[in-house]
Amino acid sequence: MNEPLLIERSKAGRSSYQFPQLDLPRGFDVALPELPPTLRRSKEPRLPEVSELDVIRHFTRLSTMSFGVDSGCYPLGSCTMKYNPKVNEQLASLEDFTAMHPLQDVSTIQGCLSVMYNLLEDLSGITGMAWGTLQPCAGAHGEYTGLKIIRAWFEHHGDARRTRILVPESAHGTNPASAAVNGFTVTTIPADAEGLVDIDALQGLLDDTVAGVMLTNPNTLGLFEKHILAISEMVHAAGGLLYYDGANLNAIMGMCTPGDMGFDVVHLNLHKTFGTPHGGGGPGAGPVLVSRDLVPYLPKPDIKLVDSGYAFDWSSELSIGKVSGFWGNFLVLVRAYSYILRMGAEGIRAAAAHAVLNANYLLSRLKGTFSVPYGERCMHEFVVSLEDLKEKTGVSALDVAKALLDSGYHPPTMYFPLIVHEALMFEPTESESPETLDELADTLIELAGIAASDPQRLKQAPLTTPVRRVDEVAAAKNPILHA
Ligand SMILES: Cc1ncc(COP(=O)(O)O)c(C=O)c1O
Repeated sequence: MNEPLLIERSKAGRSSYQFPQLDLPRGFDVALPELPPTLRRSKEPRLPEVSELDVIRHFTRLSTMSFGVDSGCYPLGSCTMKYNPKVNEQLASLEDFTAMHPLQDVSTIQGCLSVMYNLLEDLSGITGMAWGTLQPCAGAHGEYTGLKIIRAWFEHHGDARRTRILVPESAHGTNPASAAVNGFTVTTIPADAEGLVDIDALQGLLDDTVAGVMLTNPNTLGLFEKHILAISEMVHAAGGLLYYDGANLNAIMGMCTPGDMGFDVVHLNLHKTFGTPHGGGGPGAGPVLVSRDLVPYLPKPDIKLVDSGYAFDWSSELSIGKVSGFWGNFLVLVRAYSYILRMGAEGIRAAAAHAVLNANYLLSRLKGTFSVPYGERCMHEFVVSLEDLKEKTGVSALDVAKALLDSGYHPPTMYFPLIVHEALMFEPTESESPETLDELADTLIELAGIAASDPQRLKQAPLTTPVRRVDEVAAAKNPILHA
């Protein structure tokens, strides 16, 4: 199971490819300017010399060691690991998209621009916002962009006092991080006994130093913030703006919009809600949509439909500028547009309904075995606590997550949100069948039984994976990324 690196298989002189004989006259040898010695290699690069079969076998073996949505149930909470339809891949691999260059003249990329324009129109409708940008390449990048827009709005209105962003204590870590990167200070809003934003605490925190409040709805406990209209009124009355972290849009799309709830800025994770691949760090897409007043601050260029067709518009003077190399992760945008067209309005609504139904079904199967600290019912995901189990048996949330790997499941999200101890957060998504959910529930219930009868067995898990337990702190703090 221990796959060597290609460089370890290297044999001098072995190669996978032969260039064809040169059949053109030599003559292209142009004198290039000399590179300064500091930029030149002092010795030949150490590259693996391997045969084609070595390469194919290496990567095929590696591919069987990873876990993906296509290989098994992947209930990773807060990540919406839904099935990525293969039709999206087919469309995104069309040469009409892949052979384009972002610097081509706009008259030659009208099809690509129409995909982007139509996608923006659809996302504006789904979120209830006026318009947006497709440039950000991840959710966190969308947060960075959205908060920059909020900052630009207050700067333009001469309101320099507004330097604070409020985030609930259940917020995803990227929320406070994005606020801090934008130069805001972050204040935490405590949760009430139901796991929702504590309205009284929020009221106490709102003043003329608050630029905005970042919320996700449903929140990271999978609970709908039922006081959202009151919250929106409170934030706006205090002169602040309301930011929607769209990572959990899968629960509500087609049912209601962040616009209906009073949000001013929204980011979406196309790699969660709109059926595009994620994991392993990307590529993703985190479009940002805003209410009418904030449109002039969006990154430029905007995409406009004019008499001659689609065009880039660089004219906005209030724009925060560009936030991406070119126009975003274009092929991810193609996949998301394909997903929306294929699903249609009814399909999008049905996906949200089934995501909520599946999560509630799994919750109902597990709540007799594991304790559920917040909410009898949930939206698209829920969080159980293994604190009691750990106290009684010594088996932790980590041990159960690792044991799930031996049973063929990707573990749920662990130890998040932080307000739940020994947390496991499940998000089955709409893609899973009732049979799969039953098998997963049976496995978890069986693992809880093993925790009581043979805790050491779970402490050893996983037994079947290429890598067993790693030193997680060392892996995060001192990753070895090269041979
Ligand atoms: C609630 C929430 N917000 C924001 C993000 C950040 O999204 P990304 O990972 O695309 O940067 C995530 C990612 O898991 C999330 O769950």
